[in-house]
Parts: sequence; C-alpha cells; structure tokens
Amino acid sequence: MAMESTMDEQWVSRHRRRRLRFRRRHRRSRDLKSKRKCWSWHCQTPPCLSELKNRSSKDEEKNTLPFPSLSLSMSTLLNRFRLPRSHGVLSCGSTVYKARLTTFEKGDFCILRHMKTSRKYFIGPLEQEGLRNVKGGSILHSQLLGAPVRTIIKTDNDSTGYMAHFPTLDEYVVNVPRACTPIYPKDACTIIQLLDVAPGHRILEAGTGNGSLTLHLARAVSGDGHIDTVDMRDTHSRTAQKHVERFERGKYQSLVTFWIGKLSDLLSPASETSSQPTTILSTVTSTNKDQEVYDGVVLDMPDPSEELASVLPLLKNDRFIVCYLPNMTQVLGLMHTIQDLPLFMEECLEAEWKEWDIRPTFIRSSLAAADQHTTSTDAPSPGTDKSPLGTKAWVCRPKNFDVKGHTAFLVKLRKCGAVSVA
Ligand SMILES: C[S@@+](CC[C@H](N)C(=O)[O-])C[C@H]1O[C@@H](n2cnc3c(N)ncnc32)[C@H](O)[C@@H]1O
Repeated sequence: MAMESTMDEQWVSRHRRRRLRFRRRHRRSRDLKSKRKCWSWHCQTPPCLSELKNRSSKDEEKNTLPFPSLSLSMSTLLNRFRLPRSHGVLSCGSTVYKARLTTFEKGDFCILRHMKTSRKYFIGPLEQEGLRNVKGGSILHSQLLGAPVRTIIKTDNDSTGYMAHFPTLDEYVVNVPRACTPIYPKDACTIIQLLDVAPGHRILEAGTGNGSLTLHLARAVSGDGHIDTVDMRDTHSRTAQKHVERFERGKYQSLVTFWIGKLSDLLSPASETSSQPTTILSTVTSTNKDQEVYDGVVLDMPDPSEELASVLPLLKNDRFIVCYLPNMTQVLGLMHTIQDLPLFMEECLEAEWKEWDIRPTFIRSSLAAADQHTTSTDAPSPGTDKSPLGTKAWVCRPKNFDVKGHTAFLVKLRKCGAVSVA
C-alpha cells in the first residue's frame, strides 16, 4: 500500500513538474512574441528593450525615458513595462505624451457632477483660497486639491454630494471665459473630419479667437504635427494662449504657435521696415525649400474671401481649406471669389446634433390613474409597472430646450493646382 502511494506521489509530482515546465516555456514564447510585435510597430531598434528594462532610478524620478528619439504609444509603455502611472511627461523627440490626469492640483479645472441630478458645475482654475457656490451649498477648492478623480465632495453643510471629474475638451471650451464666440465642439470635430487632419499634419488657422478650435486641432495633429494660428487682435490671441496653456496642464502648448496680425500681412514677405520682421512666410521659407507646407487651412473670420489668394501658395496641392460661415450670403460671396482661383468647392454642410433625453419616470396623469384602476388585476408588463404614484415608463425624446442647431455653414474647398507631368 505504502509502495503504491509513493509511486502515485512520484507520478503526480513528475506530472506536475512537466506541466509547470510546459507553462513556463509557453509563457516565455508568448511574451517574446508580444514584445516583438510591440517593438516592430513602434521602432526599428529592438535593443532598446533592454535599455528600457534597465532604466535608472534617476530616469524613473524624472518620469522620462532614457532614449529621447523613440515614438512610442504611452499606454503600451505604461502597461507593458509597469511604468509609474502618474501625470508625468514622456518626451520623445518633438512628440509630447502625457498620461491621464488622476489627481487635482492647483491650476487645474474640475467638473463637479451632482450625485442625484447629474447637473454639472465647471470650477477652476483651482486655488488654495477658492470657493464655489453650487446647488445645496458651497465647495472649497481646497477640498479638491490632492483629491483623486471620482472623489465625492460634500457641500459645506454636508447636504449634497458632487463627484469630481476632469473636464473633457468639449466641456472645457464651452465653459472657459470668452473673448468672442468660440467654435462649438460639433463644428470643431466636423472641421477636423473635413480637413482630413491626422497626427503629424501642419495646419494654419485664422482667427484664433478663444482657442477652442486651436485646441481641437492640436489634439488631432499631436505627434509631430503643428498648428500656426493667427489673430489680428492681440487680446483674443492672449486669451487663447491662456486657454491652451491651462488645458490639461499645457499638454498641447508646444504644438501651437500664436501669431498676431492680419493673415494676409503675415503671409506676405517681411520687409525690413515692417514692424513685424518675422512673418509666417519668412519662417516657412527659411526652413523649407517648398512653400507648400500646410496640410490644411481653416478660416473662421467674417470675410475669408479676402485671404484666400494669400493662403493658397502655402497649402499643399489637393489638400483642403475649410471656411466657417454663419450666413448663406457669405457662402455665395465665397463661391464668387473661388471662380478665379484653383479651388473647387467639395462640400457645404451644417453640423447638427440632436441630444436625446432618456430616463425613467412615473406617468401621473389622470388617464394613467384610470388605467391603473381598470387593470389593477392584470400583471404589469415589463417597463409599465404600476405603482400607487402612477405608471412607470421611460422619457425618450429629443431635448428640445437644448437643440444644438444652426451655428454656421462649413465649406470645404480643395486646392486643384496644375500638375506638371514629367
Ligand atoms: C469668431 S472668432 C474665432 C473663434 C475661434 N475660431 C474659436 O474657436 O475660438 C473670429 C476671430 O477672427 C479674427 N480675425 C478676423 N479677421 C481676421 C484676419 N483678416 N486675420 C486674422 N484674424 C482675423 C478676429 O479678431 C476674431 O478673433
């Protein structure tokens, strides 16, 4: 008996060892495969893997990588190599990556969402002494400083709870103080689609205004892209600079150059007597042989027709200009102008968002009460439960009082310059 059990035990332990060996080998080959895949996507120098594993504690402190020239996906790095998930900066060449913000700091903005009604309050920039009145009491900024996202903050009288979130880009641009009417998120993202913007693109924008579209564009080109944004009013440009600086701790700041002046002046050659010796054109021609540097141009100004001729030489052939025009008469004026230019109108559209209100409710009408009385013996069907208060149902309708309707016509023009056949 004893002999049998020892043999059994031996067999079990041999079998277990074999299984472990198999698992270990399998895991190693799976890891190698996934690492190889990761590196072949993002860089051509696999030896950097070992560099990354041996990163020094000094690098860890600075939260930067020991090889500045690589272009890597932030989440890939964080997940695969278990790098600290704080709000640090990974600077890879001209590419700036920042991890998601997780804790509120001085200078940040915050969305406080009412725990019951979901009503939102925009707060910021946060400062030690700040205070914000909200429904149900007031909240001190200091309650938020150092708090992680999704913390529930109570009003001073402890009556109401609010959940703390970082604002999204669209919440930020519609809530910051305005120098002029901004481009709303529905138009900003449609413009990005019409311009066919991609990471790495260089885009020219005029006018800068509040910097709402500037931020959307900067986010779309992030990587090696860049935005040159022009406004003839320095107060507007300064407001926009502040908004770009403050959004997510200046995440997109390095991707934007702010220019002050009339667009056509900045696109003409700089004269020695000019008060502004550096123009967009002089900068472009000093660094590029080819003048056609922009992958897209967007014009949000009262009369873009005036500026088209000066913009065209800097736009790459077959790429797009989008004009934001509130009135159809402006669209017709633009159509008239482009007759004499190598531009073709491809699309004219309005972006309309219809927000729907979807939530559970009780129908309290007399009709519902009568219905309840006559059918009180019936089993309630799903979604129409009866209660002494009324009938349970769903509100399901467009939010008529908050229609995001007409703001402007978006006109997409394609550059159709002559092509010389070799
Ligand atoms: C409606 S605002 C732009 C709003 C901006 N797109 C935003 O998203 O916040 C129009 C801006 O165009 C500027 N502007 C008008 N004509 C211009 C021109 N010829 N050159 C440069 N800027 C101009 C004005 O000063 C104004 O700030």
